[in-house]
Amino acid sequence: MNAPGAIVVGGGLGGLWASLRLAEAGFPVRLFSLFEVKRSHSVCAQGGINAVLDTKGERDSIEQHILDTIKGGEYLANQPPIKSLCEQAPGLIRTFARMGVTFSRTPEGGLDLRLFGGVKHRRTCFAGASTGQQLLYGVDQQVRRLESQGRVEKFEWWEFLSLLIDADGRCRGILAMDLRSLEVRAFPAETVVLASGGFGQLYAPKTTTSTNSTGAAASRVYQQGAWFANGEFFQFHPTAMLGHDKTRLMSEAARGEGGRVWVPRDPGDRRDPTRIPERERFYFLEEFFPAYGNTVARDEASRAIWRVTRELGLGIGGGDRVYLDLTHLDRRFVATRLGAILEIYRKFAGSDPLDTPMEIFPAAHYGMGGLWVDFERDADGGMRPGSARNHATNIPGLYACGECDYAYHGANRLGANSLLSASFSGRVAGEAAANYLRGLDPARPALAETVIAAERRRQEAINQRLLSADGEENPYTLHQALGALMTERVGVVRDNAGLEQALDELDRLEARLAQVGLGESSRWANQTLVFTRQLADMIVLAKAVAASALARDECRGAHHKPAFELPIPEGSFPGDPEFEDYRARWRENNTRWLKTTLAEYAALRPRIHYQAVDLSVCPPSEPRDYR
Ligand code: FUM
Repeated sequence: MNAPGAIVVGGGLGGLWASLRLAEAGFPVRLFSLFEVKRSHSVCAQGGINAVLDTKGERDSIEQHILDTIKGGEYLANQPPIKSLCEQAPGLIRTFARMGVTFSRTPEGGLDLRLFGGVKHRRTCFAGASTGQQLLYGVDQQVRRLESQGRVEKFEWWEFLSLLIDADGRCRGILAMDLRSLEVRAFPAETVVLASGGFGQLYAPKTTTSTNSTGAAASRVYQQGAWFANGEFFQFHPTAMLGHDKTRLMSEAARGEGGRVWVPRDPGDRRDPTRIPERERFYFLEEFFPAYGNTVARDEASRAIWRVTRELGLGIGGGDRVYLDLTHLDRRFVATRLGAILEIYRKFAGSDPLDTPMEIFPAAHYGMGGLWVDFERDADGGMRPGSARNHATNIPGLYACGECDYAYHGANRLGANSLLSASFSGRVAGEAAANYLRGLDPARPALAETVIAAERRRQEAINQRLLSADGEENPYTLHQALGALMTERVGVVRDNAGLEQALDELDRLEARLAQVGLGESSRWANQTLVFTRQLADMIVLAKAVAASALARDECRGAHHKPAFELPIPEGSFPGDPEFEDYRARWRENNTRWLKTTLAEYAALRPRIHYQAVDLSVCPPSEPRDYR
């Protein structure tokens, strides 16, 4: 028998790394992507990738990277995977450099580092402000090399529709649709690695993610039985530029390089910001979090902006905007380090951040939650290298990596840990899937033709129904309603009444979607059909997110329900009786809520249950405190 084949869904950093590892292990890989892999969302990542290289001599350490990541995520992530992630980060950067990635360098030729959020050391390697693009192109070249040798076959402009699952519950391939001809075709395989990215489009248009980050692929496997973990933890990036068409990221690197966030102290102040004197400005991040200032972790920064605009009424012009100011910095320095975002801001806002402060607001950026994946702990307390359990979902044969898994970031991700986890998890998932293939019984029966035929009929019936649908509802209008609902009710701040309403409203959106009309019945490249299918799956995923948020009655990281807040008593510090009382209540809350949320698909509402977190590296003794 020939080597069994693998399928990788998604051509971002996770998918490319998984493809590399599988192909290098000798297994033929078919790589599916909604578009040319070089357009995958990893390309949009700006500020950098974390690894302890300490080229600045700041006595940074891998232990500190582990601790920052664990605490940044408020202890919610399993710790062995974080340990391995941080330990292997420096080697990964060296591999990228060997691939030819053009990292920014010091005049001496060493790798340059910048400061990012939630940490005290410069730990972020970068390539100007287009780091994701440089990394993606580096790995893409490697995959092209294997493609030219016939070891990887690409299916660009194909969409994953569903898994083929055999009678034993094993994943045995996929059904995919050619986005040009709408042909639905079965691709049997012995393992599938899903690297399909995040689900920021649930919050459109107020999301920094690309329009392809719908989460539809994750939702589809969730509906086929994969668990969706920690869906309630969605990151709102503090500094997004809200446009009429699209929300765009203004990298955290802007603050890491010295940018300052402020509002006028007087809410009625309508002067040009450059004419407002220093003493009349409220640098609220610096005041609220003196120890970290403008580079406090994202969840805290976003909530601070929320408080200043929505509760204190100090947003620019009374609205949802604060200033992100670079004008005090050296122009040449800023242009060199942040050129890519300056260009975006100039193009879409029409003003130059070198001359006038940018106007920004938090927007949906990254799902810490995603498909549940397993790991095997080794004797050193990290993940056992090569274990077929690593990054395996609960559907045997199905792996997940990159933003579509939930593994590394707990309740809040630190900036620049995502390019790291996308790359690292892709590599791990590829190695794990290769070992899964090696362990298969050579005498296993082929996937039954009846399974393939039934799944193909099911998927073609969906297309047929949509092509002939002539209802009143417009899918794009329904998507706007979904985004507004999620932003309002499942956003930076939540409450249970709002979450109940969100779930009811999602039921209504689902009912309205059943009355959709596409307005076009062409079978050639019918984008509306493709989008309508995605929207149906987005609504299902939104229910998992909202139900998970409703079930968790506490504040942790990006999930903030003020009714259950345990605030640090103002002005108190470790050793003070008030602080120690707070610490006791924090511990008590952890006994109840320090656990992974698992959503299991069910037709009306997801079933929510919980799983213990592996805290073996650093048991939670210290509450997170960025003051
Ligand atoms: O702000 C940024 O450059 C984003 C980086 C990240 O999400 O890791």
